[in-house]
Amino acid sequence: MPKSIAVAGKGGTGKTTIAALLITQLVLAKRGPVLAIDADPDSNLGDLLGVEPEQSIGDLREEVLDAMKKLPPGMTKANYVEAGLHQIIEEADGFDLITMGRGEGAGCYCALNNMIRKFSDDLTPSYNWVVMDNEAGLEHLSRRTTRNIDALLVVVSDNPLSLRSAEKIQAITDDLDTRIRRKYIVTNMIPDAKMETFKRRLEPFRIPHLIDIPYDSNLEEVIFQGELLKNLNGSPIMKTIQTIIETVGGEDANS
Ligand SMILES: Nc1ncnc2c1ncn2[C@@H]1O[C@H](COP(=O)(O)OP(=O)(O)O)[C@@H](O)[C@H]1O
Ligand SMILES: [Mg+2]
Repeated sequence: MPKSIAVAGKGGTGKTTIAALLITQLVLAKRGPVLAIDADPDSNLGDLLGVEPEQSIGDLREEVLDAMKKLPPGMTKANYVEAGLHQIIEEADGFDLITMGRGEGAGCYCALNNMIRKFSDDLTPSYNWVVMDNEAGLEHLSRRTTRNIDALLVVVSDNPLSLRSAEKIQAITDDLDTRIRRKYIVTNMIPDAKMETFKRRLEPFRIPHLIDIPYDSNLEEVIFQGELLKNLNGSPIMKTIQTIIETVGGEDANS
């Protein structure tokens, strides 16, 4: 099975950026193929990776629900979902991207969701890594629409409210411990002057602090110019990202 990393935390802490950097570095380090999952309904992982997904799982779910009554003869709901899933996988250079899209709305489509989950699970063994960008509320994790996770990165930034979010994530995921092997706090964009205070605030957490990602003006410029993140190859921020990969990947990452 592939190694899997999920990135969680308050909005604006840098989840999508870190997920995109992880995917880019895995590809640069030839650790692919990587399956990138955008599990934030406000999907923007594709933008950072330079790919434009045509359809999301949310779109597919709606489509299946619409089509259910008028399926072509010989086609089951499962066939339809499977065919649709192959369509929603956006193939890129060294990685594939799946976009979850919007949530389920009011109805309960448990059978359909289970079907989608099964097909996604069937796909994952063909990848070396799975990297998932989550929405702030951790819906997918708590609703068990996602598979097992080797490492959950809880991102904390300068905003003190991001510590509150991290506490909530710690509480929610305590119940899901069998499905999340390890949890780590990653600090991002914390000014040097505040670092000591932040470290003290992290002490009560049961989740260990893995690494600090400093604010990086080159990264900001690359994103602002709409360039690809692989242009940051070999830069200090990519080395920090590589350390995360090695921690999560263990020996596999060095093989
Ligand atoms: N280490 C960093 N250095 C510079 N800018 C960063 C860094 N991390 C994130 N950013 C910027 O911060 C903003 C929020 O990041 P984003 O990844 O969209 O957060 P989230 O997905 O958690 O809402 C973006 O403009 C992003 O470019
Ligand atoms: Mg985001």
